[in-house]
Amino acid sequence: MRVFVTGATGFIGVPVVRALIAAGHGVLGLARSEEGANALKALGAEVQRGSLQDLDTLRSGAAAADGVIHLAFIHDFSKFVENCQTDKCAIEALGSGLAGSGKPLIVTAGVAGLGAPGQLATEDMAVPPNFPFPRVSEQTALALAGVSAAVMRLPQVHDTIKQGLVSLLIAAAREKSVSAYVGDGTNRWAAAHVSDVARLYRLALETHEAGARYHAVAEEGVSLREIAEVIGRSLKIPVKSISPEEAPAHFGWLSPFATHDLAASSVITRRKLGWNPTGPGLIADLERLHVS
Ligand SMILES: NC(=O)c1ccc[n+]([C@@H]2O[C@H](COP(=O)([O-])OP(=O)(O)OC[C@H]3O[C@@H](n4cnc5c(N)ncnc54)[C@H](OP(=O)(O)O)[C@@H]3O)[C@@H](O)[C@H]2O)c1
Repeated sequence: MRVFVTGATGFIGVPVVRALIAAGHGVLGLARSEEGANALKALGAEVQRGSLQDLDTLRSGAAAADGVIHLAFIHDFSKFVENCQTDKCAIEALGSGLAGSGKPLIVTAGVAGLGAPGQLATEDMAVPPNFPFPRVSEQTALALAGVSAAVMRLPQVHDTIKQGLVSLLIAAAREKSVSAYVGDGTNRWAAAHVSDVARLYRLALETHEAGARYHAVAEEGVSLREIAEVIGRSLKIPVKSISPEEAPAHFGWLSPFATHDLAASSVITRRKLGWNPTGPGLIADLERLHVS
């Protein structure tokens, strides 16, 4: 297949591009800079120059491909609502390039906000009407008329350099010189190694099922206390429990996440796609944290 990949130059995008090319697929990767374009060419991909805001570029990139993996997102959380709207328009443009073709569109979402607090998120849970976040990638993709879309819900995706929201916990720990967790720290975050996630995108594309929701979850939940302890060891700083009232001052906008359980299952995904994650766990990667 010739696959149009947005976010192809990113943390997850690069291993996805590698996994697709290694399996014999062609990749047309979106790049918004010369540097990104050169990096994609070095991986053996073709390049579509443009940004998430260039809707014609997204439409024509999708139309020129046999399938699309959408990974790009603008991670400037000070403009989160605006960036979620850009993402929605981008998904609609990708969809319009594929409409009526039966070709797969795989869109990226998260495992947060699906069940009741403390409930393990499963693939058969649809996004609830009272979804608490402005990011609507999943809802947008699955509502596209005539488009064969599926959703990849991600947990904290990690290696020794980047770890999703855990990287922000590390930044807060560095800034405050203390690694904190809230209360008894038994709330958990699901996780997966980036190499396993990349393989799962390829499997989802090849075994395409319209309307499917996949969970790229290798570990159902790692407790925030364990995460804080390993961060403390890696940064050689103290670890402490803080109260829910102290959490906003320590974690800033991340505070609601730091106090919540974001555990998720991948039983259905593993059964459907024969996916068996083999990469290192989150704690193992944090033990070997790349400290710059
Ligand atoms: N990493 C995680 O743990 C995690 C967890 C849940 C969900 N996700 C989601 O998974 C996806 C991939 O995440 P990631 O960790 O790989 O992110 P990342 O490393 O920040 O990569 C983001 C990608 O989006 C591209 N991009 C950003 N703004 C763009 C724009 N205006 N136009 C075109 N491209 C643009 C970037 O291009 P440049 O290289 O040019 O900057 C890069 O290729 C995102 O949707 C993210 O929200 C990630």
